[in-house]
Amino acid sequence: MPSLNTIFLNLLLPVILAVIFFRSSALTTLRDGVKPLFIHNRLESNDTVAAGTAGQVAQAIDAFLSPNFLLSLVLSAVSVYVVVYLYQVFFVPLNWSRDEGDVGYILDDRGGMSKMDVANEMRRRRRMGDIPPVFPNGWFALFRSFQVQKEPRYISALGHELVVYRGETGQAFIVDAYCPHLGANLGVGGQVRGDCIECPFHGWTFRGDDGKCVKIPYAEKVPDFAKIRSWPCLERNGEIFVWHHAEGAEPSWTPPEVEEITSGKMRYHGITEHVINAHVEEVPENGADIAHLGHLHKPIMFLGRDLRVIYNLFWSFAKHEWQGTWDIDEENKHTGVLTLRHQCTIYGIPLPLMSITAEAVQVGPGLVHLVIHHWLFGDAILVHTITPIEPLKQRLTHCCWSRSFPRFAAKLILFSECLQVERDMMVWNHKTYLSKPVLVKEDSLIAKHRRWYSQFYSENSPRYTEKRMEMSW
Ligand code: FES
Ligand SMILES: [Fe+2]
Repeated sequence: MPSLNTIFLNLLLPVILAVIFFRSSALTTLRDGVKPLFIHNRLESNDTVAAGTAGQVAQAIDAFLSPNFLLSLVLSAVSVYVVVYLYQVFFVPLNWSRDEGDVGYILDDRGGMSKMDVANEMRRRRRMGDIPPVFPNGWFALFRSFQVQKEPRYISALGHELVVYRGETGQAFIVDAYCPHLGANLGVGGQVRGDCIECPFHGWTFRGDDGKCVKIPYAEKVPDFAKIRSWPCLERNGEIFVWHHAEGAEPSWTPPEVEEITSGKMRYHGITEHVINAHVEEVPENGADIAHLGHLHKPIMFLGRDLRVIYNLFWSFAKHEWQGTWDIDEENKHTGVLTLRHQCTIYGIPLPLMSITAEAVQVGPGLVHLVIHHWLFGDAILVHTITPIEPLKQRLTHCCWSRSFPRFAAKLILFSECLQVERDMMVWNHKTYLSKPVLVKEDSLIAKHRRWYSQFYSENSPRYTEKRMEMSW
């Protein structure tokens, strides 16, 4: 079944275009000029017809090039553009995906360097500092539910090569990507058989829930040791999560279900996706760093994301104002809560439509539920996920849901958050990690957050060793 979007763009849009086109006065002239040609063809001699034809063609070309016709054409194009634009704003969910290097780097004055070159050069030159282990213990989102259908999906995350697939019963499974037989990648040509996955190389077949090999097509017996690692998998709120633990411990908590999302009461309003070059802990630590809200996120969002231009004093009459505090949820020690109040002011006068209160519930190291309360539009929830795809490279997504927010308002919230996060990205992509930062009393929540977050590291949590080439002359 095609989506409403597709129907609109493929059927309604050409119809609208055609109606506007044929109603233009210049075309009426053109149409009337051509019609007698066919009528007179049957009545007049060849010479008369030739003369008449030449005249009518010239008339048609004149009509075609007349200012009236060109003006109508331009107006038609502008009308179509406006209609499509308004449709996109009011009806289509936001889909904002940025690749590594797209944002958060300084791209000017680097003649001949691509965005990726700039990002890679910065990664090479940068001193990461005395960073904590790179893959914490917890639940991490690998895919959105709709992305995993019949075909198994290969993904590299948390220092492992994984395959996510959906069995024929609809249940999602996560197993190691490499087949224990001769190492083929199950995510490249592997076939789903029941709730098992069959290797594309020799057809060994593994059960999704425990990884046991259940079939070797050419062997009499399947040995007990023939098995693949199967990972704890949880599908929740439209995301597929994997449980990662350095010691292989079983999950001690699970991400909470948002009943309004899973029951379909809340509408999906879009997603933003970014790749960040930083240690995974830098991102949630932002929630306890209250002081940065009043500086980095103070300049009005229309100034954009580039830190070199947002601190423009000319525009300082318009700003975002924040108040917040962060604390640990004593009943769920893996949870921290940032309580926020935000307003937008012009010359100190608040704009009521831009005022919100919010709670950002940080559930473990890889998930945040940001619940926004707006006095007019009601509640919305932004689900943030962060997943380490390499030791110092994170995939960050923000997904917006709401029952009562109109689409344009939900998209505005999502987009403005995305712009604000892109300011953070410019800091994260270039900063170093200080294990002993110089803090003042007002920064105490940062130290508290670090102590809290340390519960997600254990003895065998993988560490990153920075290897630098020393050059001596
Ligand atoms: S490599 Fe998978 S069955 Fe041989
Ligand atoms: Fe921030």
